[in-house]
Parts: sequence; C-alpha cells; structure tokens
Amino acid sequence: MSTGVVDAELIGELTGIVGAAHVLHDPEMTAGYSIDWTRRFAGATPLVIRPGDTAETAAVMSSLAAARVPVVPQGGNTGLVGGSVPLAGEAVLSMRRLDGCEPVDELASQVTLGAGVTLADAQAHVAASGLSVGVDLAARDSATMGGMVATNAGGINVLRYGAMRAQVVGIEAVLADGTVVSHLAGLEKDNTGYDLGGLLAGSEGTLGIITRVRLRLHPTQPERATALLAFETAADAVSAAAALRRSVAALHALEAVFEGAMALVSRHLGVTPPVGSLGKKSGAAPSDDAATGGAWLIAEAAARTDPSDELGAAVEELADLVVDAAVALDPAARQRLWAFRENVTEAISAAGIPHKLDVTLPAARLAEFVDGVPDVVRAADPDAQPLLFGHLGDGNVHVNVLGPDGAEPSDAVDSAVLRYVAELGGSISAEHGIGTAKLSQLHLNRTEAELAAFGAIKRALDPAGLLNPNVLLP
Ligand code: FAD
Ligand code: MLT
Ligand code: ZN
Repeated sequence: MSTGVVDAELIGELTGIVGAAHVLHDPEMTAGYSIDWTRRFAGATPLVIRPGDTAETAAVMSSLAAARVPVVPQGGNTGLVGGSVPLAGEAVLSMRRLDGCEPVDELASQVTLGAGVTLADAQAHVAASGLSVGVDLAARDSATMGGMVATNAGGINVLRYGAMRAQVVGIEAVLADGTVVSHLAGLEKDNTGYDLGGLLAGSEGTLGIITRVRLRLHPTQPERATALLAFETAADAVSAAAALRRSVAALHALEAVFEGAMALVSRHLGVTPPVGSLGKKSGAAPSDDAATGGAWLIAEAAARTDPSDELGAAVEELADLVVDAAVALDPAARQRLWAFRENVTEAISAAGIPHKLDVTLPAARLAEFVDGVPDVVRAADPDAQPLLFGHLGDGNVHVNVLGPDGAEPSDAVDSAVLRYVAELGGSISAEHGIGTAKLSQLHLNRTEAELAAFGAIKRALDPAGLLNPNVLLP
C-alpha cells in the first residue's frame, strides 16, 4: 500500500484535534525530534504531533491512518537504536504530554501512569507510599513510561525485579487505525486471553501507541550498601558476580565497567577510581586498553535493615578473586562509587559517536566474550576502540565502539561483534531493542518461522504498516 502525504487538509484536521501549538511543521521546531540521543541517527519529519490524552491520540491516529501517513512514536527520545526518530520522513507522535500520574493504589501496590511520565517523576510519585518502580536506569530524567514499556527497558535492577515487561499489570494503547484497547484493572491473576501488555512490551512502537501503563510496585528497600571491587581479569569478575548472586539475598544491582571504559569515565569525571584493577595498585589510573583485562564490579545490596554485614561478608569470601575493594554506606559516598558506572554512557558520548552493541551472553560464555571481543572489534576495524561495561549480574554487556578521533567505526564492527555473540549463544539485543540499528541482524537470533509469526502479528494489528515502519521487523 502506498503511503500518503502531509497536506494542508491533514494539518488542519490535526490542528483541530490537538491545537495549533501541538502540531509542529517548522523545521526549526521539529529538528530536536528528528535526531536521537547518540547523534548517530538523524532524519527529518514534515510533522510533529503532540496529543494531550488518549482520546486525542486516538483521533490523531485515525486521521493519520485515513491519510496513510506513517508515524514514529516518541517518548523521551533516549532510545539508543535509532527507533524513536523519523529516518524516512515519517510523522512523529510525541507522547510526552501524557504525563498524568494517578494516585498510588496502596492496597494493590500498583499505579497507573500516562505514557509521557518520566521515570524520575514516576519514582518520586510512588516514593511517599513506601513503594518503588522495579526498573531504574541512568536516563531516568527523560525516559518515559511509554518508551520504557515499548523497549522493554532493563537497567540496573533486572536481577531483582525483572525488566519493564515484568512490571506491567495493565496497558492502554491506541492501535494503528485509532481503536483504543484498554485493560488497566491490574488483576494479578487474569487469564482471559492474550496478554496485550506483554505483547506491546518490546514492540518498539510497531504494534500500537501506548497511552497509559499500570505498573506493579515493590516495597522500597531504604538501607543500602555499595561495594566497588577491582579484578585483574574479566573471568575473575564473572566468577565473583556469580558468587555474589548466590550469597547476597539483598543484592539489588551488580554492574561492571571494564578497563578502557573505566579509563574514559575516570578522565571524564576527573577522578581516579578508589580501587585499582591491575597489579593491586589502589588509586592507580586505569589503562585505555580494553584488552588489558582489568575489571570493576559495583555491587549494591538494599534491604529494610542494614545489609552492609551481608555484603561485607560476601566480599570477604571473594578474597582470592578481588584485588582491591571499597565499600560505601552513606548516600554521598555510594553516589561517588556509582558515578564510575552511571557516567560511562555520557563519557563515551562526549568522546564521539559510538556504535552501541548491547548484548547478553550465557553465564558460561561471558568471560570468554569479554576477553575475546576487543580482538573481534579490531579485526573488523583496526582503528576502532571498544569500550565495555554493563549489567554483568544478568549477563548484559554493553560493547560501545568509537572510531578514531570520535568518528563512527566501520559498520563491519557491528556485524562481526553480533555474529560473535550469536556464535556464543547470546542475544544481539539485551535491553535496548532492535530499532533500525540492528534490523539487518535480527536473523542471527530469530528463525524464519519466528520472523514470519512476527510479520503476521504486525499485519493483524497494523495492516497498512504505518507504525514505525522501519523499525524491528526486517
Ligand atoms: P524513546 O527513545 O522515545 O523511544 C524508544 C522506542 O519506543 C522507539 O521505538 C519508540 O518508537 C517507542 N515508543 C516511545 N514511546 C512510545 C509509546 N508511547 N508507545 C509506543 N511506542 C513508543 N535502556 C535500558 O534498557 N537500560 C539502561 O540501563 C539504559 N540506560 C540508558 C542510559 C542513558 C544515559 C541513555 C541515554 C539511555 C539509556 N537506555 C537504557 C536507553 C533508553 O533510556 C531506554 O530505551 C528507554 O526505555 C527509552 O525511553 P524513551 O521514553 O526515551 O523512548
Ligand atoms: C547503560 O546501561 O548505561 C546504557 O544502557 C548503555 C549504553 O549507553 O550503551
Ligand atoms: Zn544498560
């Protein structure tokens, strides 16, 4: 089916629905919606529409469907795979104005939030009830509920609470033709057919526009202890991570930064890590070379009562593996340790435009991957610099790759690394999604039969192919 054009009649119709202030077509006004956070993916759009509620979203979609205009849904635009920006002249549907938070349902420990509510606002909204959102990530000030469900976002607490799909107990969405589907009762047990929330989680804007989500919440664990542990090898860090998962019941986050990435983030922050990885030198500057093998873990325990003894005892049992350790209890000191992990993405972005390869490995192949991937990168592009970090507790490594002087590396790096991941039995997308960045590699993880089933679902819900047409599905 051919796609339609944005004309004065359509703009007039959309203006009638959302108001002139929320239909943008001046390129100066639409530019910020057309480039992604990494600056790697940039396009242009004839139109940005900013509905204010579900009814407006439904009316907008109905008009766009009648005019056969393809659309990219957008939340906070913090996605890292080029899925939230118009790369082929699509209209952009910005969902940020749907930012209402309904009262916390304390009886059910649940809350219903608009798709445009940021994670930070959601966290602040539920905190007074002694409850927390199960997913946390460094883009919390901008990432929205709709985008986080659409990408099935992971982040730092997946090992305790699961990713975003596991938080969703209800969903409201607008389908491609403007139909509203709403199932927000939040019944914990509800076997009345297909799970539309589960289906929309990870659908990356290709199956429906999420307008409201109902999340299951978790009791806040206010007492925290955080350790920064240094290791001489990735294998030692992986073994220690497995041991901590077995021994610390209150384990809340288990993150890694490898040599190279640690050197970059330390320079960015202007601070040397308090524990050194190589040659047991506390406070020594990390090496720029990821292949030298050093690694750091950040392990955080969180509970209702002080978990520092539990974490401390577990760290002592790792004496044969850990070369250096620092433990912090008060919020400022813990934050100083977290800075070495939370600022890696920003430090890389300040250094250039990376290719971001977010992958998961089976536990048994994780150390082999971390040791082997720098050579795989350099074989594909000798000038490329691999920077490794991630959520080691759930097997998720972020392989970011910079070219010389901050330029992009060769595309050959992406296919070489993702093929290596698939050979080791891993997933080419742990938490960021496929977007446009990995579209051509999806076959590495999905069979033809699976892709055919994906296509059938897409055609059933979006027969004209108007929703994010260049994302996820090859
Ligand atoms: P956007 O970027 O706007 O969109 C992402 C995708 O969702 C697109 O395909 C878009 O079309 C679709 N979409 C957006 N809103 C809707 C909607 N209402 N309905 C339907 N589809 C929609 N991700 C992680 O998983 N874990 C991390 O630890 C993590 N850390 C990050 C740290 C930094 C510094 C940055 C910049 C990003 C990080 N991310 C992380 C990536 C990003 O924050 C997540 O992918 C997040 O879920 C995107 O939310 P968003 O609102 O910005 O979505
Ligand atoms: C993170 O965990 O910091 C982001 O998901 C990773 C990235 O920037 O690649
Ligand atoms: Zn991540």
